Amino acid sequence: MSLKIVVTRRIPDPGLRILRDSGASVLILQNNPRAPVDRAALMSAVADADVLVALLTERIDDALLARAKRLRGVANFAVGYNNIDVDAATRLGIPVANTPGVLTETTADLTWALLLAIARRIPEAHNYMVRGEYQMWGPELFLGEDVGRGPDGEHRTLGIIGFGRIGQAVARRARGFDMRVVAFDPNMRDAIAASHDAEWSEFDDLLRQSDFVSLHALLTDETRHLIGERELRLMKQRAYLINVARGEMIDERVLVRALQEDWIAGAALDVYEREPAMAQGLAECRNAVFVPHIGSATHSTRNRMATMAATNAVAHLNVQQAPNPVNHAVYDSAAYRERIGRLAV
Ligand code: GLV
Repeated sequence: MSLKIVVTRRIPDPGLRILRDSGASVLILQNNPRAPVDRAALMSAVADADVLVALLTERIDDALLARAKRLRGVANFAVGYNNIDVDAATRLGIPVANTPGVLTETTADLTWALLLAIARRIPEAHNYMVRGEYQMWGPELFLGEDVGRGPDGEHRTLGIIGFGRIGQAVARRARGFDMRVVAFDPNMRDAIAASHDAEWSEFDDLLRQSDFVSLHALLTDETRHLIGERELRLMKQRAYLINVARGEMIDERVLVRALQEDWIAGAALDVYEREPAMAQGLAECRNAVFVPHIGSATHSTRNRMATMAATNAVAHLNVQQAPNPVNHAVYDSAAYRERIGRLAV
């Protein structure tokens, strides 16, 4: 009987080629890039799947994993894996892998694109041009804020929350703008202390002093709604908030009030609390820039992510340790040995 890889939604061709070359049959549940995967179809497909390749749009929860009696592993096409119940997977003896590293620089670039776009009001100015409203140049047309030192010679301060790979890459880029960079990440205290690109700040101090606050933490129970009313009111009224991490880190309904009532100067968002939906009123906020979760969206990075996810998937298929596991401990567990033993029968 041939082995079966289930891919929830189509991934780029370099990844599909690797999956097909493995000799397993490859079932893509959703080929339409604009359509979601039907949950019932996914539930039914995992029942006899040997490997699951998932996108961040699918909830791979306990109920789904419990049905997947033959599953040798899950390969997520993303570095973030909050869409997967990793604790449940570990308990059931299922390895989970992700795509770290390849998207770091690409996502840091998008952070800077958003930061500059909101500070210099690029989308507003672009729309003005496209609507044919540019009739006369004037000294007060689309005034924004300096990112570099500006005529006052003062450093602007960039506050980075989450100093992992992407946070560090964002900090490196700030050198070119001669910014002061402060960072908060309780898990990376030593890395911040050792960094030449950032200095440690306590969380509240970071919010109080930053001209730009950029989120780069993992979504966990501790970081869900990390930015709510208290935090937005601590920020400077002239400060901007940027989020390319996960939408649930911001209480989006409160952010709408903050933008409507000018508690802060603006926000630039790549991710949303109830993606793809946006909180009521958010889209109408003039002092904001929105893009549809495109942090890693370059041709080369998405192809590399597909290659990586597929390589993880084929390792799962061959009952080998995946190159990028997120639950390493699973390989030493009785649950994994029991699962693999059962497959061999
Ligand atoms: C994108 O958001 C990812 O986690 O890869």
